[in-house]
This record gives sequence, C-alpha cells and structure tokens, in this order.
Amino acid sequence: MVKSTKEYKREKVNLLISQIKRKKEFSNINDEFIEKLIVNKVDEKDLVKISNHSKPEKSKEFKQSIKTIRKILHDIYGVFNIDENRSKLLNELEKESKNTNNINDNLKKIHINILKTHKSTNERLPFYDEIYQKVFHELKPKTILDLSSGLNPLSYHFMNLDGVKYIATEFVDEDTKFLNKYFSIMKKFNFDGEALTLNLLEIKDLPSSDICFLFKTLDSLETLKKDITKEILNKINSKIIVISFPTTTLSGRKISKKRLIWFDRLIKEYFTFEIKNEIFYIINKTNL
Ligand SMILES: C[S@@+](CC[C@H](N)C(=O)[O-])C[C@H]1O[C@@H](n2cnc3c(N)ncnc32)[C@H](O)[C@@H]1O
Repeated sequence: MVKSTKEYKREKVNLLISQIKRKKEFSNINDEFIEKLIVNKVDEKDLVKISNHSKPEKSKEFKQSIKTIRKILHDIYGVFNIDENRSKLLNELEKESKNTNNINDNLKKIHINILKTHKSTNERLPFYDEIYQKVFHELKPKTILDLSSGLNPLSYHFMNLDGVKYIATEFVDEDTKFLNKYFSIMKKFNFDGEALTLNLLEIKDLPSSDICFLFKTLDSLETLKKDITKEILNKINSKIIVISFPTTTLSGRKISKKRLIWFDRLIKEYFTFEIKNEIFYIINKTNL
C-alpha cells in the first residue's frame, strides 16, 4: 500500500525522536514531549524536505533539526543534571533509613549529596535555612505543591516542618519515579509525599495546597510558550505562591533586573528577597 505524506512525516518525526534520544542526556525524556517540540520548533518546510529525502538522516535539515531540539532540551533539562550517581545515592539513603527512626546526620548527609546532583539545589544549599525561614515566616503549611520540583523535595529537613503532605511534579517519568521512591523511603519519618508527571506547558488543573513553589522554571517555559506564566498562575490553587528566578546566566554572567519586567507586571503585591544567583517572590494568591 502507498504511504500518505502524513505517514511519511510521522515516520520521519519518529526517526528524529529516536536520534535525539540516542544521547544519554535526553534518553529519559518522553517521546510525546519531544514530538511536540519538533512540531512547534522545526520549520514545516524542513520537515517536508526531510520526508522527501531518499536518506533522511543525511539531509542537512535532519541534522539541523536534531541540533535545534537537543539545544532546547539541554537548556530546559539536561544542563541541570550534574551527576549520574543519583540513583546509587538513593539506594544508600534507603539502606541508611532502615537503621534509624529519625532524620539523623548520616541521612542528612546523603540528602545533601543527592541535592548536589542538580544544579539548582546545589547552588541553593548554603541558603536553604535562610530561604525557608523567610518563606514559612507567616505560614506553616500542611500541604506543599512543588511544581517542576527537580530535587527540591529533598531539602525537606531544612524546612523544619512536621506532618506535611508534599506533592512534587516533574515532566520526565524517570524523575517522577525517582521522587516517588524517595517519598516511599521517607514515609517512616512522617514525610508524606507524592510525585506526579506534569508538563507545565499543558496543565489542565492542579492539586490545591497551602503553599506552591515554582522555582527557577518560569523563564525557560516562557521561551517555549509565551504568556504561559499567566496561565499557570491562574491555575494554581494555593494561598501562597513562591516563585524564583535565576539572577545569573548558566555561565555565571549577571542578568539585568529589567529582564523580569514582564513578570513584575503580572503580580501586584509581593515580598521579595535575594540569595546568591536567585531571586524569590512570595505572593499571596488573593493579591494576584
Ligand atoms: C532549573 S530547574 C529547577 C528545578 C527546581 N524547581 C529547583 O529550582 O530546584 C527547571 C526544571 O523545570 C523542569 N521542566 C522543564 N520543562 C518543563 C515542562 N515543560 N514542564 C514541567 N517541568 C519542566 C525541568 O525538568 C527542571 O527540573
């Protein structure tokens, strides 16, 4: 049977996805997410050229598309994962958790070693006490929603809270699985958590919570879908929203405050503070 143009294109998109995922850094990212990026970011004309090429992998459009999509995935995801030992460390945590009934120094040390495997939590490590003192100054939450959490839930012992229900979201299934394994280990320490896979570019609704964290994620989401922040803020069903942005680029250059004017326009009243490389906004949802 003769294939339709649509089928040809579909085949080539699948070929692009499998080629992109051959690099270990991207191998865990869901196909569906990569497919949407291809459809939105690769020029339609290039996709047609790839489809019509006798050896698509050899075409310059194919090579360029791989480069474009890998660059985006690196910037929004790969660049933050700085150590591959994370799973080994989680096994260590599991083993150690069996020897104690409280979060002892050994357990804290392993937590810190895991936090060091993600760029954002690693940078934040010397400042967690200060951050959470400010964040929980007015409100001691019983429920926390941490959107695109990365490894931030593992900073729990810095929060000085007890009996919290913690919901974390990430957009790669493997990361959600990692977090769920972590939460299952921590249940015996009265830390009740759950991780959900969620692509923030396409949210329908969000679980309600006392406080919602959205750390260092909005600016990269905005580069993929303009005005998505407004949509996300509207969907958040939490009394307090804590949002952060990096204040330096990944290469360490200072970012001008002007770059956040678009965000300042969205929020009216807020409390803000800065640590090295990061600015936080604490917003009361009723003041949005
Ligand atoms: C800079 S990291 C911040 C992680 C964490 N919030 C923190 O500050 O420690 C950005 C996070 O956004 C996640 N992310 C990227 N694109 C996403 C999307 N479309 N939907 C949900 N999360 C996404 C990445 O997996 C990554 O963990």
